[in-house]
Parts: sequence; structure tokens; C-alpha cells
Amino acid sequence: MSLFSPRVMPAEPAGDDDPFIESLIARMTLEEKAGQLSIFFDNAREDAPDINPAQAAKSLAEVRAEIAAGRVGGLFNGIGVASGRALQKVALEESRLKIPLVFAADVIHGLRTVFPVPLGEAAAFDPDLAERTARAAALEATAVGVQWTFAPMVDVARDQRWGRVVEGAGEDPYLGRVLAAARVRGFQGQDLRDPDTLLATVKHFAAYGAVSGGMEYNSVDLSEATLHDVHLPPFKAGLDAGALSLMTAFNDINGIPATAHRGLLTDVLRKQWRFRGLVVSDFASDAELVSHGHAADEKDAARLSILAGCDVSMASGIYNRYLPELVREGAVPMAVVDESVRRVLRVKKALGLFDNPYRSLDPEKERTQLRLPVTVALAREAARRSVVLLKNEGGLLPLPKGGRRIALIGPFASDRVHLMGPWALWNEQRGVSLEQGLREALDDAQALEVVAGCGIEAPLEGGIAAAVTAAARADVVILSLGEGDEMSGESAARADIGLPAPQLALAEAVAATGKPLVVVLQHGRALALTGAVRAAPALLAAWYLGNESGHALADLIFGDHAPSGRLPVSFPQHAGQQPFHYNHRSTGRPQTQADASRFKSRYREVTHAPLYPFGHGLGYGDIAYGATELDASTLAWDGTATAQVTVTNRGARAMREVAQLYIHQRVASLVRPVRELRGFQAVELKPGESATLRFVLTRQHLAYAGADGRPVAEPGLFDLWIAPSAAGGTPAVLRLLAAV
Ligand code: NOJ
Repeated sequence: MSLFSPRVMPAEPAGDDDPFIESLIARMTLEEKAGQLSIFFDNAREDAPDINPAQAAKSLAEVRAEIAAGRVGGLFNGIGVASGRALQKVALEESRLKIPLVFAADVIHGLRTVFPVPLGEAAAFDPDLAERTARAAALEATAVGVQWTFAPMVDVARDQRWGRVVEGAGEDPYLGRVLAAARVRGFQGQDLRDPDTLLATVKHFAAYGAVSGGMEYNSVDLSEATLHDVHLPPFKAGLDAGALSLMTAFNDINGIPATAHRGLLTDVLRKQWRFRGLVVSDFASDAELVSHGHAADEKDAARLSILAGCDVSMASGIYNRYLPELVREGAVPMAVVDESVRRVLRVKKALGLFDNPYRSLDPEKERTQLRLPVTVALAREAARRSVVLLKNEGGLLPLPKGGRRIALIGPFASDRVHLMGPWALWNEQRGVSLEQGLREALDDAQALEVVAGCGIEAPLEGGIAAAVTAAARADVVILSLGEGDEMSGESAARADIGLPAPQLALAEAVAATGKPLVVVLQHGRALALTGAVRAAPALLAAWYLGNESGHALADLIFGDHAPSGRLPVSFPQHAGQQPFHYNHRSTGRPQTQADASRFKSRYREVTHAPLYPFGHGLGYGDIAYGATELDASTLAWDGTATAQVTVTNRGARAMREVAQLYIHQRVASLVRPVRELRGFQAVELKPGESATLRFVLTRQHLAYAGADGRPVAEPGLFDLWIAPSAAGGTPAVLRLLAAV
């Protein structure tokens, strides 16, 4: 069994009547109960990153005193075995009930070894890869004292202005479901009691990705049907895979802040879905009910949050401050607090903390398990698999390793930091730059000339002139452009999703030399491409690839491996099209590609179509799709039908092709999207090789979630495509028959 082999067995928390847990609850004071329901940013520890809004920093002595007083259930974002053991010792030896702390952290895409950002990795369309990188991240995180990760983020992101697109699986709920489950399995492993497993958190519940205008922390106004059909399914998939923790969101939904949303936190989560793990607020999102104008003051906010079903308060301290008095006044029933405490203790028990409180706090592992060669190799594989070849006119790529002078130009050419992405919090390493990757791969490292040309968002004096000189001397130019690590992620919404002006000016000047241009983009969202960048003959969408970025890019640029990623987000024709997603509803006045008439759904400047569609991605082969075929034209209510397609590699190089199954319901009670992804399969094809891919369909593939969250399958006609992207393929028609 390989180090990262998939292991699938959801963790089972203790029952409601676990005698050990019940006897603990019976002995707890109200203050100790509130303490178990409170976790804090561990900014007293040396390794704590500076990422959250200013929180009154506490000294180590103060933190120890709070732990000893039983006022802390867990700490997050401080790492390190020695300091973790020292804090755990205080809980075990100085607190009255000796309940172990749980240590959490934002381990989003690796720890000491940084994998591609989740959006990038989503482009691999490969749940096995996502599971293996999550497993590897768990091995490193648990080696430095982390037991609980605040990942995966499973928010469906349909507006590329939103900065947090980078942290999830993109715009599609089906891909989101598959990857949510895979990442949970990877983090949590087979048995959550194993010290190398991490408690996974699906976040941010719910609809954070639907913030109005893509603006961070904004409101969400959303129909119940879209909430259930688009935004909730990845959460359900993550919980079904065994995640025992869920985080609320900062936003309100239709006027009710998520952290006080009883309909979501109790009715959907507990009653419909039977979730038995714990719910944690986002960073002070409970106290923020006051700024939302939903709670009168912090005490009211604590009352609303706990009554809604938010078990644990993150960072604000309002549960500690107000829960005891709220219970004594009768504003919050003791049974509600007890139930939240029960959930927390149950999760601590599932983690094995009562039997082994020093789990994941082993100095030997900290010394020996970080940045193992096998983990670094996985980072390189994942990085390679994440890159999407958008365009390759005239077969410009791959480049030969010798015989040509290459100019590498752009603000990220030698960068070793931004390539890590916005969530690489504990990585003291520098990544492999594109320059390093290219030089190591070239026959003659001197054949590469490197010029920055401009800064990320500002011009460099003489930068463009130097870049043009280098381009003029070269046979081919690689332009390394994109977003810095602070241009995506939390608090990094952008009004304009294009490249910064100085980079565009650089691209125009370099393109004017007439040299063949390969553009390598680094980014945390789909970008609106313009001018010389858009017109470049070869374009690679490379996201933030992590530590092994330069190696992986060189592997692809020189053709040691072929690109195989597919877009998990649509690239628009124009920034103003946001929010843009391929699975939009049919309008009453749709505009087909060929139809240029007025009074149709479109902008004056652009049609309602992407520049590069969801699912798009080229390789170095040349894949031809046959028509989608069905083994029957009807599907009985409880029956199955098989759809198939034959794909052929007509090119001269091997290819990994991802065939995607899309559906469209022609007539429905609720207007359906023009296309919806319902499955995908990957196949490796040698030159000249063909394969027939089959999807077995049941009516579940054709159903959608109605406004009450229940699946709706409606008899009638469905178009089906097995296609290379959301814009390709030749459809077949299937009729779903009514139940008899
Ligand atoms: C706020 C972010 O929204 C959340 O995703 C993260 O887990 C917390 N901060 C803790 O760092």
C-alpha cells in the first residue's frame, strides 16, 4: 500500500448515551461547558501566522491560565510539537476535568510541502489525486501537532470576482461534490483515532460563494431551489464521506446570517441530514451578528448563535462571556448547551483524544515526516496535473530542450513565493521558480535569458525596454504573468478580473517583437484575458502550483509530460460578464452562437458565451469525439440506460482525456440550466488509439433538487452529451418514462 493510498471508512462518533461523555457533562460547571465550546487563535505561539483580523493578542502565560481555568476547548493556527505538548499538559494536569484540547489549523493545500491550490488541483478532474494530496497534507500536519483542519472549502463559486474561488473546486456542484468527498477521505483517513488523521471541516456553510457582486463578506440573496441544487450538495457529499466538523459562513442568506441560521444549522443539517459532528463559527462570525444588525449586542449574538445550532465559537470569546449567564437567566436552555458540549466531546473522543491526548504531538514524527521525497514527488505530480493548456496554435508547445534561445519575461519569472498561493502559512521553504525549472531542464542553461519587465502591479523603470531587448534576441518568449498571492484568497475580491495594467503593457511590447509567445498564467480565479495575452499562440493556465511549480511547468513546457488539466471555472470573454458560469438557466430569449440579432440575452459587447468553457483543456495529442450514443431511447423510471462515446487520439503524442457527461432537461417545472455536469471519466490514449467510454444512467442522474431540497425527477426529454467541455459534443436524446 502506498503512503497516500485511498482509505475509505467514515468515522463514527459515539452515541448520544455514551456513559463516559455523559458523566463528564454531569460534572461540568456552566463555565466549563462554555469553555469547551470556545476555540481561540493561538497567537501566543511562535509559529502563529498573521492572517486574521486584529485579535487582542494574549501572552503565553495568559493562554495557560485560561486553559487551566477550563475556558478553552481548542486552539488554532499555532503549530509545533513541543509547544503543543506544553499546552496540552496544562489542560491535562492543571484544569479541573482534564479534558484535552484539540489543536486546529488552516491546512488547505499542504503544510511544509505545498500542493497546488484547491482550484488548481480541481483542474485535474481527479478525485484520487485530491485524496492523495489531502492524505499527504494530513501526514505533515499531524507531524507538527495539528489534529483538526479547517478544510476542505466546498463553496461553489460562480463569480470570479470573489477572491476565495481559489480555495474550492470551482463553479460546478458535481465536481464540487466529488472533490469534497475525496478531500475529506484523504484528511480523515480510515480511522480518525489514528494519530496521522485530521478531522476535516466542510466550510463555509452556506452559500458564501454566492456573495453579491463577488464582494468579500457581502450578503447573499438566493432562491431556496438554487441553494439546494447548487450550493448545498458539496457539503452533503463531504459529510457523507465522514467529515465530523462544519464551519458556518460570514454572509447572511436572504437576511439571516449563516451563523444564526437555524433553518440551515438545525433543520437541514441535523434534522434532514442527521449530521452528528460539530458546527464551528467562522472567525468571530458569531459576534458579527451585531454588525449585521441581527443581534442587539454580543450577548444576544451568543444566544442567537447557540440556539441556531452553532456549537463552537471561534475567536470572539462570546460563548465564554455570555453563555453561563444566558442559561441562568433562562434565555438558553441548559439542554441546548449540553447538546453542543456533547457534540464537541464526541468529536474529541472520535479523534482518540481521551485515550491518547498527545496524539499527533510526537517529536520524532516532526523530525522525520516533513517534506519526504515521496511527498515532494506528489507535489510535482499534482502541479503538473493541475495545469490547463488553453491554446496551442501551430503546436508551439512543447518546446525543444536545445537549439533555441528562450527569453523568460515577467514578474513571476524568478518568483519563489507567490507561486505558493494565499494559504501557504507555515512554509519556510521557497518554491521552485519557473526560471529554476527551465534551467534545470534545458540542455544548455545559458540558452535562457530572464527579465522581470515589470512588477506585479507596478511598472519597473526600464523594465519594458530590457524585456523587448531580451525578446528580440530570443527565438521564443515565455511570458510569466498573473496575480500575486495577495490578489486572491480571503479579503481579495477584485472588481476587475483582468491582468494588472503594467503586465498588459509588458505583454503588448513583447508581442510587438513578433517572437512566438508562450504565456504562463499564475492566478487564483478565471481571468478575463485581453490584448496580446489573449492573442498569444500558446496559453497555459497554471494557478498557484505550490513548491514544485517550476519543475512541473518545465515538465510540460518541454514535453516530458503532456498537459491534461480541464477548467473548473469558465474563462469569460469580458470581465463584465461576471457572474458567469456555464450552467446558467435557459432564458426566454437565448442567443445561439450563429444568431447575431438584437433583443436576445447578451451584452452589446459580447455574446453570453465564455472565451474558454468549463471543462476545456488541450493536451499534446489530438482527440476526436464520436457522437454520443444511447443503448435505448427511453429510460424506465426504475431502469438504466447506457450512454457511450468513442474517443480517438489522432495526434502523435499520448493524451489523458477527460470525457464529461452533461445533461439538459428540455421541459421542467423549474427552468433547468442549459447544461449540467453529471459525470466524467478519464482515459489515457496512445497515438492512434481509440476507447469507448460508457456511463450507466439512472433517473438520479436526471434529477435536480427542488426548493425543499428533495430530488425532483420529471418524465420527459433530456439532451445528453459526452463531450470534451461544456461547449462541445454531439448530443443524444433520452426520454425518461413515468413510473408505472
Ligand atoms: C476566516 C476564514 O473565513 C476561514 O476559512 C478560516 O478557517 C478562519 N478564518 C480561521 O483562520
